[in-house]
Amino acid sequence: MSQPSAEAVYGFPSAELAAPGPGARQLSPFAPGAEAIEDIADGALNRLVVLAPPGTLERRYVLAQGLRALAPDGALIALAPKAKGGARLRGELAAFGCAVHEDARRHHRICQTRRPGHPVGLADAIAAGAPRIVPELGLWTQPGVFSWDRLDPGTGLLLGHLAGLAGRGADLGCGVGLLALRTLANPGVSDLACVDIDRRAVEAARRNIADPRARFLHADLRAPVAGLEGLDFAIMNPPFHEAGKEDRGLGLAFISAAAALLRPGGVCRMVANIALPYEGRLNTVFASARMLAQSGRYKVYEAIK
Ligand SMILES: C[S@@+](CC[C@H](N)C(=O)[O-])C[C@H]1O[C@@H](n2cnc3c(N)ncnc32)[C@H](O)[C@@H]1O
Repeated sequence: MSQPSAEAVYGFPSAELAAPGPGARQLSPFAPGAEAIEDIADGALNRLVVLAPPGTLERRYVLAQGLRALAPDGALIALAPKAKGGARLRGELAAFGCAVHEDARRHHRICQTRRPGHPVGLADAIAAGAPRIVPELGLWTQPGVFSWDRLDPGTGLLLGHLAGLAGRGADLGCGVGLLALRTLANPGVSDLACVDIDRRAVEAARRNIADPRARFLHADLRAPVAGLEGLDFAIMNPPFHEAGKEDRGLGLAFISAAAALLRPGGVCRMVANIALPYEGRLNTVFASARMLAQSGRYKVYEAIK
């Protein structure tokens, strides 16, 4: 049996900035089917490229996990847009005991280093970015997951409009499972698929929802998902950011995905920022759509296939 590659990549850096080798193992939580960086044994890698995430706790966690997974003297290339954590990478790596060479290219900072013999502070950074229950939500969550330590106002609005759902449904982009938990309070719900592209969110939702009617899928809803068809209902607070940039196409793709998963007559309830132009797509892919509520910067729609 061939050995797994000792090179890995976390995320999807532009090849112009840092190119992982062709056999590099993907470790991003946003890549369904990828390995988890947490599961790589200590010292198992000899090269790692990290497109570092923007949040400080999440970024330091990923860098520390990467240094843990590298063999002594293994090569680490860490990069990020300057304004989204890149400017802090060099100092953060130095604080772990790394000697860093930094380049600036295309608004990014690119840091190259080697794992020191005795890095410092890895356990603390890993503990600070690890899954935990936050009192504000009363739920398992993790830095880096959507709105990880507070209730998103859009989620809060949709929570008040989930009554009466019944049958087989899906929570599309479930996050840590707040909407799913409220949906399962409806006794008529027989099955709820909780789907998200972020493995950490799916794992948190699995911990938060102890209900045999719920199942959990780590999947990208921009492509067909096996086992999701002919549903009676879908709920969603669609994303409108991809890799830190606004991407309205993502919300539109979620609306099309919801319509494709529902049976004729099936119901979709969703929340959106008032600035997002979703009505056109709702009216194209559903038989009817109406606004149920508006509050602050958010509106809730109900659409029937
Ligand atoms: C606005 S958040 C909503 C999270 C949760 N439903 C809530 O209301 O708190 C959107 C969620 O969609 C997920 N997501 C983004 N792109 C996705 C995709 N292509 N496929 C599946 N989930 C995706 C994100 O990881 C995020 O958890």
